[in-house]
This record gives sequence, C-alpha cells and structure tokens, in this order.
Amino acid sequence: MTAETQLIVTGAQGRIGRLLRKLWADRPPSGLSPLWLTRKEWDIGQGPPPEVPSGGVLLDLAGVTSGDFERNPFLASKVADFSQQLGCKLIYVSSAAVYPGGAMDMDEDRALAPVSAYGRSKVAAEVTVRAVASNPTILRLGNVAGADALLAGNRPGLMVTLDQTTLGNRGPVRSYIGPHVLAEVLSVICSKAIEAKGIGHTLNVAQPHPVAMADLLDAAGYDWSFRDPHDGVIDKVALSLDRLQELTPVPAATASSLVADLCQLGCWP
Ligand SMILES: NC(=O)c1ccc[n+]([C@@H]2O[C@H](COP(=O)([O-])OP(=O)(O)OC[C@H]3O[C@@H](n4cnc5c(N)ncnc54)[C@H](OP(=O)(O)O)[C@@H]3O)[C@@H](O)[C@H]2O)c1
Repeated sequence: MTAETQLIVTGAQGRIGRLLRKLWADRPPSGLSPLWLTRKEWDIGQGPPPEVPSGGVLLDLAGVTSGDFERNPFLASKVADFSQQLGCKLIYVSSAAVYPGGAMDMDEDRALAPVSAYGRSKVAAEVTVRAVASNPTILRLGNVAGADALLAGNRPGLMVTLDQTTLGNRGPVRSYIGPHVLAEVLSVICSKAIEAKGIGHTLNVAQPHPVAMADLLDAAGYDWSFRDPHDGVIDKVALSLDRLQELTPVPAATASSLVADLCQLGCWP
C-alpha cells in the first residue's frame, strides 16, 4: 500500500459524504487519497462514469434515502459495474433497515427481513452488489446521530412526537453512531480494506450499546411526547458489533455521548 492508493467515494454530496469530506480533510484514511464523486462528476445511470485510474477502494455512499427507493439496486449495480471495470475493492453502504429488529442483537449472518420499503430496496441492492462485484464488503450502518430523522429533522422548541413501544416509556431503541466516531470507523475500514487480511464480506457499523430515542431527545434538550399508538413500529434494532470490534475498538454509546459528538460538529456540513 502506498500513499497514492485512491479511495473513490460516490454519493459525496450526501449527508455522510459531506461529513467525511469535512472530517477527513486534514486526516484522510491512512494510505489512501480520497477522490470525491458527486452527481456533478457522475450522474449514475445517466452517463458514463468518469475516467479515473484503476485500482484502490470504492466507498459507495450513493443512494436514495427518501422518495424512490426502488432506484437503490439500480444505482448499486452501476457503481458495482464501475468497481469491476476499475478492479477496485467495493465497500457498499447498506443499512440496519435490512434486519427485522427484535429483542436479540442482529448479527451479520441473520436472515434478512426488512419491514420497510427502504429496507427492502437495500436488501435488493446488497444482492445486486454481490452478483456484480467480486469480493465486495457490505456495511450495514445503524442510525447516524444528526443524519437521522430524529435529531436532524428537529430542534429545541419544536415538539417531537415519538412512537410508543412495548419496551417501556423511552420509545424505540436503536444502535446509533456519532458523526466523529463514524468518520473514524469508516477511515479504518477503508484503510484495512486493502490489507491482506481484509475486512470480511459483511460488517455491522454502529457503536455498542443501543440507545432509546427518548433518552437521545432528552440529552439534546428537545421537547417530546408520545404519539397515538399505531401498527408497524419496530421496538428495537440492536446491531451485533462483535465483528466490527475485532477490526477496531469502538466506544460504547450513551445518549449524552452521541449528542456531545454531534455538538462538537457544530452544524452538519
Ligand atoms: N444517514 C444515515 O443515518 C444512514 C444510515 C444507514 C445507512 N445509510 C446509507 O448510507 C448511504 C449514504 O447516506 P446519506 O445519509 O449520506 O444519504 P443522502 O444524504 O441521501 O446521500 C445520498 C447521495 O447519493 C447521491 N445520489 C443519488 N442518486 C444519484 C445518482 N443517480 N447519481 C449520483 N449520485 C446520486 C445523492 O446525490 P444528490 O445529492 O445529487 O441527490 C446524495 O448525495 C446511503 O446509501 C444510505 O442508505 C445512511
């Protein structure tokens, strides 16, 4: 590995892409040189990919997170094609939404059973990626504090309504990761992707210790109340993080540590 190894990042204008561009500006992943691809450089599926040198790693952050989810497998297939043409190691960013949720921790070998249209589109994208790319790694990312619907879409002074669950009075529970921790973990994953040992075929990504949404809202100083009970609420999605912890140590999350991590960012880039 040399300092010249390229790290192509697609979806570079999205929330996570902008975060990485800011936090990796001074300290890019060890041994890698990021090449940021936004829709301006490549409108995936509309035109040919840009001409870039072969080899390296491709971190695929491009996707549809609201609206026409059905485009996700198509976009993923185009990026996987590109990685094949270049002989890149592909890392596709999927989601914890591929899991059904429940009392047990979701480990990477569990049968997938998404409950949302978004989750189903990410499962289809994973299948496509595996069919097209040789030896890709799929990351199943938990909720990103500040890039999620809960903290990103609200602010102090607004009344947030929270789903009721059967778990108690703290609302749904999810595996979260703070923005700085995410940037660091993705940095390590990308660097290790080209080491001989590699990073495996599937990896859950979040901080250990799932967090209740009411605790997160309290830590952020947001007013909240429960909305009327309704069907389809997933009480808990906790990711098993043993595989990630073998790769790199990740600190356990608390509601206050996640909010502190987000506050350290100032506003989202
Ligand atoms: N944020 C989270 O909490 C979270 C959690 C789990 C998994 N993920 C996954 O992580 C990835 C990145 O998430 P994010 O929050 O950064 O999503 P995002 O803000 O929606 O960004 C997705 C990016 O994909 C780009 N894109 C979509 N279609 C494209 C096309 N045809 N050509 C070129 N670019 C295209 C978008 O470009 P434009 O900006 O030009 O539209 C956007 O910049 C997604 O795959 C998401 O499913 C996110």
